[in-house]
Amino acid sequence: MDSESQSPLSVVVIGASGDLARKKIYPSLFALYCQDRLPEEFRIFGFSRTAYSDVAFREVLEKHLTCRYAPGESCKVLMQAFLERCYYVPGQYGDRDAYLDLYGRMHEVEQSREVNRLYYLSIPPSIFLDVAHALGGAGLVQCGISSPWSRVVIEKPFGSDRASSDELVRGMAGVFREAQTFRIDHYLGKEVLQNLMVLRFANLVFEPLWNNHYIESVQISWKENLSVAGRAGYFNDYGIIRDVMQNHLLEILALTAMEPCSKLDAGHICNEKIRVLRSIRPLTLDKMSLGQYTGAKVSDQAVPGYLEEENVPADSRTPTYAAAVLEVDNDRWRGVPFMIVAGKGLDSRKTEIRIRFRPVAESMFSGLMEGSGPNELVIRVQPDEGIYLRVLAKVPGSPMRLKQTELDLQYHRVFDELIPDAYESLILDALRGDKSLFIRKDELAAAWDIFTPVLHAWDASDEKPESYPFGSVCTDGARALAERYGLSADAL
Ligand code: BG6
Repeated sequence: MDSESQSPLSVVVIGASGDLARKKIYPSLFALYCQDRLPEEFRIFGFSRTAYSDVAFREVLEKHLTCRYAPGESCKVLMQAFLERCYYVPGQYGDRDAYLDLYGRMHEVEQSREVNRLYYLSIPPSIFLDVAHALGGAGLVQCGISSPWSRVVIEKPFGSDRASSDELVRGMAGVFREAQTFRIDHYLGKEVLQNLMVLRFANLVFEPLWNNHYIESVQISWKENLSVAGRAGYFNDYGIIRDVMQNHLLEILALTAMEPCSKLDAGHICNEKIRVLRSIRPLTLDKMSLGQYTGAKVSDQAVPGYLEEENVPADSRTPTYAAAVLEVDNDRWRGVPFMIVAGKGLDSRKTEIRIRFRPVAESMFSGLMEGSGPNELVIRVQPDEGIYLRVLAKVPGSPMRLKQTELDLQYHRVFDELIPDAYESLILDALRGDKSLFIRKDELAAAWDIFTPVLHAWDASDEKPESYPFGSVCTDGARALAERYGLSADAL
């Protein structure tokens, strides 16, 4: 680590006993610890409602830490040393005295007064503001941007439309300045997405073709073969558009469609993402198809439908599936449909970007190209990270025959390095103060502007989402939408 980041560090996880903290935040911090990427003097203070002692909480954490970066015996030693740096303070989120307990505990344990502090709010958005104010009120937030600094990491959803998001941004700014605020969209930490700018702008072969003259359509699809069980209460208030589309998919779209930056830094990257987001026409219901999964048998097991999930009202209209066609109204993209699709309860788990090039119009091979599709660049974000380009090739021998083949870059074959979890990369960036992969407030506003009108229109309508059985490939509505725009339904 560089000298600045060797300063003492306390990471404070609010909502420490929750799923995200146990499964992602602590394991990512442990991964960074194993790679020697945390300062010598660092501690983690967990705060949440469950009454654990330090020892009991460490036992909970231990079950979630993995030895990816330190296989063998050394892992046990590292794990022990890491857990000894994990402290726990129980308290109610709304109780100001509880934050004074946290303050007291931190001061008792920290050996220095000059400690950098990273607050990770792993809590429901409805209590972000109260918790931020309580932290500020307890004197836990240093206003300095340089060392010793205090920074806050918050998780989406940031509001539920443009107005509530603005309100949240304003409220949080009363405690943490924009420069101290790190809004996470964990998809930006995924390796393949971090590679997108490199692929587009560090290789000569793509950029000249990356426009409406050569690209016919872009499809970005996100599928999960899971139900919302366990978080249906949250999900029912937000739905798939707010949960996945307005953030993860829009960020993928921005990275796919943005112009090159004049400099590789957070400000320039963000400016370009915002520019392209602002060129997207606000979405309307006629360019969308919404669905909700119903119960079905999957591998001989009965899976309940969305409406049968605990905490979901029987008449819920919350979509678990959404397909939308977005139009980017600028010179590069005018006329190219961007179809984005997100769904839970589908047949598989997959996130990918498909860039379909225009067909070769006239070719001396015309008679031999029957049945072949146009070139397609597929960027597989997960699982099995990879990038492949569909090209035509001559089958060896005669007579001349052409075959669709793939130039294939599979991460596990090409790279020896482990692919870090998105949270590892993002937490490390937050510690370094690098905001390139975080969402700035004006970017957030631009993202909400695309979806707010359609969300309000859906809320005001009494239309029902289309039913689809759990385990489906997609909905009929999505297929019809794809056909309407001349897109391939195979990619859904
Ligand atoms: C979260 C959504 O942001 O991303 C979840 O709230 C979703 O609904 C999750 O399941 C998917 O993340 P990943 O990294 O497992 O694809």
